[in-house]
Amino acid sequence: MNASSLRIPVDNPPAFLDGGAKQLLIDGKWVAAASGRTFPSYNPSTGLELDPCALGEEEDVNRAVAAARRALEGPWSQFKPRQRQTALLKLAQLIESNFDELCMLDTLDMGMPVSFGPYMKPVLLGTYEYCAAQALGLEGETLPNSVGGDIFSFTVREPVGVVGGIIPWNGPVFNATWKIAPVLATGCTLVLKAAEQASYSPLRLGELCLEAGIPPGVINVITGYGESAGAALAAHPGVDKIAFTGSCTTGQHIVQTTARTLKRLTLELGGKSANIVFADADRSKAVAGAAMAVFANSGQVCCAGSRLFVERSIFEEFTHEVAQLAKSLRVGNSLDPATQIGPLVSEEQLNRVTGYLAAGKEEGASLLCGGTRFEGNLAGGYFVAPTIFSDVRDSMRIAREEIFGPAICAIPFDDVDEVVRRANSTEFGLASGVWTTDVGKAHRIARRMQSGSVWVNCYNVLDPAVPFGGRKMSGYGSEGGRHQLDAYLNIKAVWINTD
Ligand code: NAI
Ligand code: MG
Repeated sequence: MNASSLRIPVDNPPAFLDGGAKQLLIDGKWVAAASGRTFPSYNPSTGLELDPCALGEEEDVNRAVAAARRALEGPWSQFKPRQRQTALLKLAQLIESNFDELCMLDTLDMGMPVSFGPYMKPVLLGTYEYCAAQALGLEGETLPNSVGGDIFSFTVREPVGVVGGIIPWNGPVFNATWKIAPVLATGCTLVLKAAEQASYSPLRLGELCLEAGIPPGVINVITGYGESAGAALAAHPGVDKIAFTGSCTTGQHIVQTTARTLKRLTLELGGKSANIVFADADRSKAVAGAAMAVFANSGQVCCAGSRLFVERSIFEEFTHEVAQLAKSLRVGNSLDPATQIGPLVSEEQLNRVTGYLAAGKEEGASLLCGGTRFEGNLAGGYFVAPTIFSDVRDSMRIAREEIFGPAICAIPFDDVDEVVRRANSTEFGLASGVWTTDVGKAHRIARRMQSGSVWVNCYNVLDPAVPFGGRKMSGYGSEGGRHQLDAYLNIKAVWINTD
């Protein structure tokens, strides 16, 4: 690792970054890409290069899928539920003891502020622990039938097979975990395609899987670009299921690609979530709730509450308070422990987000704060100042499309029916928020929201026992919760004629 790419000295630079090119993890071994090529990786706080990664392409995907297929039929297939549980728990322990390093990799690679680590720890470890518990309970059913004779029928649930996981860059440790843990719980195997902007922590997690005693080939990690490595994985006839998290456009692409082999598919896509604040809300919670529903992780969160509907009687005052808070947030190098808002992941993302900011201004929205690239002493990094738009019409691009940056559209409303209708009139359906002290109103609105999650008097809360997933253009299938493993299992009906 090149120390100057950090700019802020760190006590614990990740040993994983040793200055060499990171390789692919296939069949339990580190291997170079078949082409021998690599691609660069950047620290978004500085714009400077970090260790490059192997440029995985179709041939590498083929090797990884072959390894995953062999592993599916090898010693892994003999692992009893309890052994899979033990492996998951051992992995959780290893992640805990290497937690700072994993967080530091995400901090350097995609700009997650180092101060966020402690917040993610319980959900991250809990995901492995929850899946470990679920590994013991993959029962089938005995089913009374009405056919003649004496035929006994029952079901068994079996691993779907080789899973292709394709993940984005906005939370690499998390996104990788949401694919790895269910695969291990169900006895599937995985080829994980890391996002090209943030490859390190998925690779390191793959290495920890080996350390946890999970056989080689069960978890393979490929780095490389979406249109080559990702597309090859989605198209591969030897892959039984794709679990994708990312943009709608790529999700649609994958639907088409996977149609050719009819493999199973789950999609966790984008959003344009409504966060609704009523005049009776507890202001001491709602102001920070409205701000951090969007500014956390610099707005690079699929469920960001980016359409902030505020009841008209408090609109001016409330949005002013959110803007004051926004202005007080400390934007900085992600390695600085005082940083609250880090950079966007890449120059491309910076251009995309500033493009939206310009479009908002052109369409006539006004700015309460932010609205530009944030440079200060941070030139070189990809920072955007926390932004709040007012005078937003529902038809504006900034109110309809996922910006995936630290930008709020503040919109006044007058009554419940109106705000529910406007909140739901989006192509997306991932999440929504409601802030009110009226319990009845909270329940009634929660029932009416067309989204996979509804947070009342809180936002962005996740737990392994509670499902998270979308509807409409936000995708299908959910991660977390009692039913999450269904997408990784086939049901087989067995009929036994006992006559
Ligand atoms: P993306 O959806 O293209 O990338 C996500 C993953 O898919 C990456 O691993 C990528 O390599 C892979 N991929 C790309 N094209 C593929 C293909 N044809 N076949 C198979 N895999 C493919 O998202 P990208 O380009 O990184 O970000 C663009 C925008 O998408 C963001 O500005 C944001 O609005 C949105 N996005 C939303 C996310 C969410 O969780 N809602 C996550 C990431 C991006
Ligand atoms: Mg990077």
